[in-house]
Amino acid sequence: MSLKYKPTVTRRAFVASSLAGVMSTALPFPGMAEAVTRKFSLRAAPGRTRLVPEPHPDTVAWCYNGKVPGPEIRIRQGDRLQVEVTNDLAEETTVHWHGVRLPNAMDGVPHLTQAPIGPSNRFVYEFDAVDAGTFWYHPHQRSFEQVGRGLYGPLIIEEANPPRVDRDVTWVLDDWRLAEDASISDDFGNTHDLSHAGRLGNTVTINGHVPETFEVASGERIRLRLINAANARIFALDFGDHAPRIIALDGQPVMPHEPPDGVVVLGSAMRADVILDFSGEPDARSRLVDRAYRGNDFRVLDFTYAETALREATPDWPIALPVNPIPEPDLKSAQRHEVTFTGGMMGMMVEREMGLEPRDGMMGGGMMGMMHDGRGIWFVNGKAAEGHVLDPFLTLERGASHVLAMTNATAFDHPIHLHGHSFRVISRNGAPTQHREWQDTVLMAPRERVEIAFVADNPGDWMFHCHILEHQAAGMMGVIRVA
Ligand code: C2O
Ligand code: CU
Repeated sequence: MSLKYKPTVTRRAFVASSLAGVMSTALPFPGMAEAVTRKFSLRAAPGRTRLVPEPHPDTVAWCYNGKVPGPEIRIRQGDRLQVEVTNDLAEETTVHWHGVRLPNAMDGVPHLTQAPIGPSNRFVYEFDAVDAGTFWYHPHQRSFEQVGRGLYGPLIIEEANPPRVDRDVTWVLDDWRLAEDASISDDFGNTHDLSHAGRLGNTVTINGHVPETFEVASGERIRLRLINAANARIFALDFGDHAPRIIALDGQPVMPHEPPDGVVVLGSAMRADVILDFSGEPDARSRLVDRAYRGNDFRVLDFTYAETALREATPDWPIALPVNPIPEPDLKSAQRHEVTFTGGMMGMMVEREMGLEPRDGMMGGGMMGMMHDGRGIWFVNGKAAEGHVLDPFLTLERGASHVLAMTNATAFDHPIHLHGHSFRVISRNGAPTQHREWQDTVLMAPRERVEIAFVADNPGDWMFHCHILEHQAAGMMGVIRVA
């Protein structure tokens, strides 16, 4: 963690001293009155849930606390979070706190950072909420099935002084592959999904239900926190005339901006906080359309306006978020590392086009060539991961600035995720990005080159992987050591 803010020691010391009635002049965050431990519990178990409306039956899913998504954990920046996880599944699990900069031992990666939680066992996670923002939690054990069956939930860390809005709304998006009887199709991890675009479904839910309408009022301002919890589906949400303004990406504040064409694009695991001003007339109706896959646009829901307006004009309240305490990478001194992603269907063709050296045993092409490395279909710098205990493919000097120059030499999109850090996306195909956004997951298009930069300030072995969970399962994962 950033040396500016030493989690445990400072916090505990502060709590103790405030209890003793000692005044502290150095609060970690302005406006923060006291730091407290917030306790929650999560129980992972099969349960019944209504994903699709009547007359369809309900669906047996895997739930946290009997629900999909799991409960929204909402705390304030600077709080300490304690979550007791009980496993009532028939298999091992863990909980990973996606995007949260926390100590390595709390990262929830089976075998690498902790022993997996066995059936009817427990594990207590505890860490400080250093950054405000929109995060989420999910298992890291056999994620392609555990997340795919419904194990995920939102983690919202509030700013001390959030921008004023009328409503703060969280939407957890998912994409399910359901059979006719609304049961979850059990073809998890089939070779086609592993080698193509991942497990794409046929039913999109928001907060665990197929939505029809979402009621708003004329003049209303909503902060919409979007979380893409789908195994593989990319969302490209077109808000029509509502001119969404993005104020945070992956939980981290960004210069407020309207995305190109008013479309908010989210690969798996990615988040966006969007300010929406509902400027339509009372009783109006307008569609929210997903445009991620060419030729497959679909209506997600209709915004329906209430009969009475909330106010006449759009509010002019400021929307920018306060920054989080992330160290700024120094690009002049940064150490540079090349990372190349290869593999998957049609990958050989792309590699040849991009002038990459063929990998050993990869001359055959097609599925045979692709599968040369055991179960590996996807590769990070030529290696396909099996399991989470891996020799690091990169060791980064702790405290130094680093640039990862990444190349997607495949025919598919990949949302690439690094644990334990947020990074700045500094360039795409050689051109500087406009917003130098902080992300923990960056979506790379086929053949795209993306550079990210960050200070490796959080010691430990951290997973680095594609968040299309089928790609991760089929090798697209590695370990980056910060030492
Ligand atoms: Cu959201 Cu390694 O995961
Ligand atoms: Cu991928």
